[in-house]
Amino acid sequence: MDLLMFAFVAVIPVISYGFTVHGPSGPLVAPLGSSVVLPCYVDEPLPLDDLEVQWRRTDSETLVHLYQYGERPEVQQQDYHDRAHFFTDQIQHGNFSLRLDNLRAEDGGNYTCKVYSQQDSGETVVQIKDVDRLLVSGSSHSISAPVGEDVTLNCSVDSHIKPEHIEEVSWRKTDEDEDILVLLYLNNETFPDSSDERFRDRVEFFTDEIPKGNFSLRLKSVRTEDKGVYICHLFAGVLSANTTVILRPSE
Ligand SMILES: *[C@@H]1O[C@H](CO)[C@@H](O)[C@H](O)[C@H]1NC(C)=O
Ligand SMILES: *[C@@H]1O[C@H](CO)[C@@H](O)[C@H](O)[C@H]1NC(C)=O
Ligand SMILES: *[C@@H]1O[C@H](CO)[C@@H](O)[C@H](O)[C@H]1NC(C)=O
Ligand SMILES: *[C@@H]1O[C@H](CO)[C@@H](O)[C@H](O)[C@H]1NC(C)=O
Ligand SMILES: *[C@@H]1O[C@H](CO)[C@@H](O)[C@H](O)[C@H]1NC(C)=O
Ligand SMILES: *[C@@H]1O[C@H](CO)[C@@H](O)[C@H](O)[C@H]1NC(C)=O
Repeated sequence: MDLLMFAFVAVIPVISYGFTVHGPSGPLVAPLGSSVVLPCYVDEPLPLDDLEVQWRRTDSETLVHLYQYGERPEVQQQDYHDRAHFFTDQIQHGNFSLRLDNLRAEDGGNYTCKVYSQQDSGETVVQIKDVDRLLVSGSSHSISAPVGEDVTLNCSVDSHIKPEHIEEVSWRKTDEDEDILVLLYLNNETFPDSSDERFRDRVEFFTDEIPKGNFSLRLKSVRTEDKGVYICHLFAGVLSANTTVILRPSE
């Protein structure tokens, strides 16, 4: 009887739910303002009644989100309040991925997903490597160009957004009483026919430069009435950016 008792006790620690926590295959990159999913999962579902999952910033140990069976996650850090969510219906399947909304620049960094179940624990680290923003560089604030000559108005992508992800670029002339389309680029195509008639046949992109993210405008044969404010507006998914230049034709 004693021997049987011993065997019973000794066996208990062996019935563990040994598990491995998995993360993404590489660092994550996502645009500013978007929602990103930080993967964290185990192969086999774990019993819920003894489960705890902690998501923390690896550097500061700041608690980002917490799952404890039957508890509401009230200990969430202010910075992440309302921005961090589990996929509640996925937890029972061993999927503890975190959705982080409205991504901010300071969200870049490493996150540890630590899972506790029975006597065991495991963790994985997820890196948000880059929070992309769209930066655009333009011309110096104001440029002058002799009437009749050609002029280049600068507008080029100045961040690691790939040019093929740029969905739309519009050059507009905006003044107090007018806002007219100078040149439009949409989904890899230039639409010269949509230019206002004052600019039609006088404006173009530098086709060879577009793959480099250079959407500078070439305005041919400058006229006196071209004087004014030009704005180049770029869109890539949730991101957008613009640059402005004032053109002063000189006689
Ligand atoms: C976890 O759930 C999310 C949301 O449904 C899903 O995108 C992701 O693929 C799931 N991961 C796994 C490993 O099932
Ligand atoms: C995040 O982890 C990666 C890979 O371990 C490491 O190279 C990087 O320096 C870490 N970043 C920070 C901000 O700690
Ligand atoms: C346009 O950009 C080029 C390259 O960055 C620069 O050399 C040039 O001075 C810029 N032109 C103006 C008018 O700012
Ligand atoms: C534009 O071209 C890029 C690269 O060739 C491609 O990945 C992308 O899907 C294209 N976009 C559209 C809207 O056709
Ligand atoms: C964009 O292309 C134009 C025309 O080749 C050039 O003058 C300008 O310097 C380029 N801008 C940048 C930032 O490379
Ligand atoms: C241009 O970008 C600035 C921020 O850089 C923004 O405040 C402004 O509203 C943008 N202009 C337009 C017309 O979207």
